[in-house]
Amino acid sequence: KNGVSIGLFGLGTVGSGVIQLIHNHQEELFHQVGCDVKVKTVLVRNIEKDRDVQIGDTELTTDPNKILQDPEIDIIIEVMGGVEEAREHIIKALNAKKHVATANKDLIALYGPELQQIAAENNCDLFYEASVAGGVPILRGLSDGLVSDRIQKLMGIVNGTTNYILTKMDEDGFSYEQALKEAQELGFAEADPTADVEGLDAARKMAILARLAFFTNVALDDVEVDGISQVAVEDLNYGKKLGLTMKLIGLAHFENQQLEVSVQPTFLAKSHPLAAVKNEYNAIYVNGEAVGETMFYGPGAGSLPTATAVMSDVVAIIKNMRLGVNGHSFVGPRFAGALKAADQRFSQ
Ligand code: NAP
Ligand code: HSE
Repeated sequence: KNGVSIGLFGLGTVGSGVIQLIHNHQEELFHQVGCDVKVKTVLVRNIEKDRDVQIGDTELTTDPNKILQDPEIDIIIEVMGGVEEAREHIIKALNAKKHVATANKDLIALYGPELQQIAAENNCDLFYEASVAGGVPILRGLSDGLVSDRIQKLMGIVNGTTNYILTKMDEDGFSYEQALKEAQELGFAEADPTADVEGLDAARKMAILARLAFFTNVALDDVEVDGISQVAVEDLNYGKKLGLTMKLIGLAHFENQQLEVSVQPTFLAKSHPLAAVKNEYNAIYVNGEAVGETMFYGPGAGSLPTATAVMSDVVAIIKNMRLGVNGHSFVGPRFAGALKAADQRFSQ
């Protein structure tokens, strides 16, 4: 067959961005993979809903089996959110030998290793670049770019909604409620924004990052978490008088054979590079033994930026399909060896 057919689970902020990006950048995609990339069917909750995005001859359905049992569909993009239903669909897709790209950090933080195992057993790819820091290619940065290094520390802003809220409260005099409402309207917040404001979304992302950076399993319960829901404008004004800016900072630090992962509201000097990261933007400092200090920066949420991350996964999957080397996800063939090396490092 000439092209690659995709089944899309979800047509909200990210799903609409995916449709738009494939439509607008068809030529660039063709150039990369040498064939047409087409979304054949989209799973939604409500077919009747008014939607801003033009879907052409793509079919909408409320029946997941229409996608999961379609032999023409090679790749599933999961951007519907939630955990249990999304997990079930992804397992069925992998067992039906379909590759998966997902933006779902809730799912990957909880079940990433299990799903990766199922993917490997089926020689399928499971990629999740969009699950951390939206349009910032941090997962490929860690697992490709910095693959030969030993990472010592990750530190950054990994939640767009809370950074948007803190920026608007600090600089534009917004109340917490006003700023949160605007972040929701702009499509940055989760369906239930509690995960954003209580720091859980950032904790999930830090767990995913720490897994890839330190080759060890990080359970969510092991991440120390504090959010921003109790932060008042007065706190920010007090910091301002001292030349400080508050940011929700994620930290993963490997020291004395111990890995510590945390998410905490933190006052930074205005001159600190992370203090200059505003609105929905994210930034992650990576400190590696060989590379020294490097920083990844960009839009951490939003429709098209997140869609670029999803499509980077799709292109990687198609390239692997051409080479017949699917089934190694982000850490690839290094996984077993790296785990062994990490075990030794952690047990010293
Ligand atoms: P969203 O705007 O709420 O869209 C969710 C979509 O999934 C909707 O189209 C909805 O259908 C569909 N859906 C949800 N539950 C469903 C179900 N049980 N059965 C069928 N369809 C269902 O969400 P989003 O902001 O695009 O986020 C999607 C995923 O990407 C989440 O995992 C999120 O954490 C992640 N993510 C989001 C961003 C961002 O900036 N928004 C960035 C990175 C990652 P209807 O349209 O019919 O309601
Ligand atoms: N709600 C998330 C955020 C979306 O605000 O960062 C991107 O993962």
